[in-house]
Amino acid sequence: MCGIVGYVGSQSALDVVLAGLKRLEYRGYDSAGVAVLADGGLASARKAGKLANLEKELVERPLPAGATGIGHTRWATHGGPTDVNAHPHLDNAGRVAVVHNGIIENFAELRAELAERGHVLESETDTEVVAHLLAEEFSGCAGLAEAMRLVCRRLEGAFTLVAVHADEPDVVVGARRNSPLVVGVGEDEAFLASDVAAFIAHTRSAIELGQDQVVELRRDGVGDGVTVTDFDGRPAEVRSYHVDWDASAAEKGGYDYFMLKEIAEQPKAVADTLLGRIGVDGALTLDELRIPAAVLKEVDKVVIVACGTAFHAGLIAKYAIEHWTRIPCEVELASEFRYRDPILGGRSLVIAISQSGETMDTLMALRHARDQGATVLAICNTNGSTIPRESDAVLYTHAGPEVAVASTKAFLTQLVACYLVALYLGQVRGTKWGDEIRAVIRDLADISGEVERVLETMEPVRTLARSLSDKRTVLFLGRHVGYPVALEGALKLKELAYMHAEGFAAGELKHGPIALIEDDVPVVVIVPSPKGRSVLHDKIVSNIQEIRARGARTIVIAEEGDEAVVPYADHLVRIPATPTLLQPLVAAVPLQVFACELATARGNEVDQPRNLAKSVTVE
Ligand code: M6R
Repeated sequence: MCGIVGYVGSQSALDVVLAGLKRLEYRGYDSAGVAVLADGGLASARKAGKLANLEKELVERPLPAGATGIGHTRWATHGGPTDVNAHPHLDNAGRVAVVHNGIIENFAELRAELAERGHVLESETDTEVVAHLLAEEFSGCAGLAEAMRLVCRRLEGAFTLVAVHADEPDVVVGARRNSPLVVGVGEDEAFLASDVAAFIAHTRSAIELGQDQVVELRRDGVGDGVTVTDFDGRPAEVRSYHVDWDASAAEKGGYDYFMLKEIAEQPKAVADTLLGRIGVDGALTLDELRIPAAVLKEVDKVVIVACGTAFHAGLIAKYAIEHWTRIPCEVELASEFRYRDPILGGRSLVIAISQSGETMDTLMALRHARDQGATVLAICNTNGSTIPRESDAVLYTHAGPEVAVASTKAFLTQLVACYLVALYLGQVRGTKWGDEIRAVIRDLADISGEVERVLETMEPVRTLARSLSDKRTVLFLGRHVGYPVALEGALKLKELAYMHAEGFAAGELKHGPIALIEDDVPVVVIVPSPKGRSVLHDKIVSNIQEIRARGARTIVIAEEGDEAVVPYADHLVRIPATPTLLQPLVAAVPLQVFACELATARGNEVDQPRNLAKSVTVE
């Protein structure tokens, strides 16, 4: 949450920072602001609302040109989304400007101290104390980087901070604890940002920052001008990496919304996640996992922790892991995990699933798991992010950047990665024969084409979605792996269309939720294959009849050739036949399209739904 950019170089800092903020707006859009160092002073502007409001303000009241600057796009925590609470925050003399992502837990105490010393703080934010503390420390120490180190040692909580000082016009300083910050290194210029997307148009050379580190960027000989230390000033080891996607991947590419583009990219994303992971003999080669086979053989329990859509991927993974490996698997909301004192040990394998790799709830859950001696494997889409860095091993999904707040291609690729892990466990432990594994891999390899086919047939789903735009409630039903798909369909609709939407296990209907069925309530039913577990299929056909008898309007998602559902479907959406466990990979797609279209018909902002942010870096 919150997007941060810092720049030092020879271009217009304002242009670079604004372009970066545009790329980071998915992280929060309650307000935006910038500060530049120019003519021996510091100039800043900030505005509540989206970045467009700030841009308008800058046209009306331009800032002087400068080549050092910082910017921020906010997801509000402390203090509402007003101009005064927008970042950057300045000290009383207007010499220091700071932007922040995270929460400073001891800010009330620090604020009281500052007030006693005569500082006047104008906002309700936790961030403003940092500007004042930096100003105090700067006057007595060797520069902004040293002042930042001293201040960070006094802060509790999670934070990324980026600051500039008018007395050091060639310097931008950043710091991080439990919140993301990456460095971009260009020719005679350098960048700081919450995400590489902010500077990918300028450089693909990046440096990861570790926990509790301070980075100083200097214009004089940048490259060498990037200095990283810990909070005590000791030089830190840095890891450089090359970003393997380019600026076009972070553009809309002709689509109205990033979400539409990301839905369309799913066939490729699914194929990319399989790429290089299957050997010539058809066996899985997940050497990148770096978890010794001996450890995997000893695993007596798998626990999956994740949030939101990633949690739904975990729920589906449980079916595959237990079926293919016979290892008990629990799936837990990361935000609940550590508070219930889970039973973990040296033989537990904890899988943390996260698109962003920065979700604080998931990060805290994995830290707890490691403290208990468990081995932690991350399934993640973002190279160099905190969750994989803090895990014992990582399997990257190769979805490419996902910008829309609603997760789509990340979900499908998380599923593919989970299937790979499940099969790999089966391979290493000998619970699946080689030819069985090869058969599933062949089915997985076909999925990319099947998703493509689903996407080609979505026009009736769009028409249907538009026709339902005035409904208040949509319900989703599924059984077996279709149940988490129902949860995911409901989540997509809630977050995008702001409608009451709920997913249920179809068998649970009669235990209460069936009371929600009234005349013309749309109910989406994900029907399992009649060929797999036919008992499941028969039961759900009965469930469809039960709700239809009570007036529901049934929207049935069923595989091609399933004729049994036809008499009971008010609307029928066909998906290709797949093996039972893989069906979520095709069944989720119409639900994404449905939610996106319904949100559009209701006039909602598809890529930036209200109150949400893409990367949730607070608990
Ligand atoms: O980055 P993560 O995968 O850890 O994010 C987890 C959830 O916040 C995320 O999936 C969220 O639920 C999406 N907005 C759903 O579309």
